[in-house]
Amino acid sequence: MRETAARGLEDARTRTLRLTDFDDGELTAQHSVLMSPLVWDLAHIGQQEDLWLLRGGNAAAQGLLSAQVEKLYDAFEHPRASRVTLPLLTPGEARRYLTDVRGRVLDGLEQADEERLFPYVMVEQHEQQHVETMLATHQLRDGEPLLGRGAALPPGRPVPADSVLVPAGPFTLGVDGDREPWSLDNERPSHTVDLPAFRIARVPVTNAEWQRFIDAGGYDEPRWWSARGWEHRVAAGLERPLFWAADGSRRRFGIVEDPPPDEPVQHVCFFEAEAYAAWAGARLPTEQEWEKACAWDPVAGRRRRWPWGDSEWTPALANLGGDALRPAPIGAYGGGASAYGVEQMIGDVWEWTSSGFEPWPGFTPMLYSDYSAPFFGGDYRVLRGGSWAVGGASIRPSFRNWDHPVRRQIFSGLRLAWDVEAPHV
Ligand SMILES: [Fe+2]
Repeated sequence: MRETAARGLEDARTRTLRLTDFDDGELTAQHSVLMSPLVWDLAHIGQQEDLWLLRGGNAAAQGLLSAQVEKLYDAFEHPRASRVTLPLLTPGEARRYLTDVRGRVLDGLEQADEERLFPYVMVEQHEQQHVETMLATHQLRDGEPLLGRGAALPPGRPVPADSVLVPAGPFTLGVDGDREPWSLDNERPSHTVDLPAFRIARVPVTNAEWQRFIDAGGYDEPRWWSARGWEHRVAAGLERPLFWAADGSRRRFGIVEDPPPDEPVQHVCFFEAEAYAAWAGARLPTEQEWEKACAWDPVAGRRRRWPWGDSEWTPALANLGGDALRPAPIGAYGGGASAYGVEQMIGDVWEWTSSGFEPWPGFTPMLYSDYSAPFFGGDYRVLRGGSWAVGGASIRPSFRNWDHPVRRQIFSGLRLAWDVEAPHV
């Protein structure tokens, strides 16, 4: 287990350094008001590791930075838009700080109790989440491409554009630490939930389908939008997914290309996802429905650890890890289907659900007690399944992401769901 924790930290660091191995100017610039300068993420990754793994979360204890400098990396204190104005560590100082913290952490890990490794994996997941955030920053950046076109992906295959029935009945929602030791507080505890029957799309909505929504005037028809959604659509001038141009091309990490028709659409906000679903005669799934379709095995009457079963993720089963720099075509992961036959639930794009972010009954905060709790009940919608940008150890069928309904610089898409009429008796 100690080796797994060490390897996880190492993997996250490799990705961090790859996304920040550029001139100082790239790291200190603010590429978008939506994001921090990359150098802030870089030092914040070290600060969190210092806090949780070298000081057990005791912010009053002396860390490797002065208290004054450390404060600059408090995400609650400084909104992203203002971070560029702070007297931040330089890229060189930030890299040295990360190396220094990591050296001490690995020394500590060698002595750590095998039963007490959760904070190490929590910190690894924190770093992986910032890697995804840094990828979003790179995507917002103007200028010559820095990251290339991305690694090859498995080819797609024809998949019926249909839905699967998930019959009514109870299932186990959420997980516990004994089976999922690296699950975060908001995924716990497991409990039984009884859902009515519903249908859910076999695959996510694609670029080609989204183009049909645009062509059908979906952005011009208030009837498909919620009142709040339409207000936002007008105020923000939404006409197509973020990074798409009027000529039908899209910009991806600085490269202009045609959106592949059979690729899951990304960079749409919750309000757009909701409008698309209404236009398509459907709705968004709730997060409970999403998790049942992903993890429940109705024959065995138990949860699977992954949609495909209990075996660990491999690149043949889902598009994770970030190397691809894009979602995979529809049908690329037939072997990754859930027990109900639903595909591409893990990886590719975060999927908007209709659910707000609330604690499961019996919620208990983890060591990083402000990770989830301050956000419950806020103006957020839950996203599920992870995107292509997510690290393989940082996603599970129970994993819950949340964001404001207007956000679309994230790697967000959608999958449709439908009510099923109760049979007449
Ligand atoms: Fe953070």
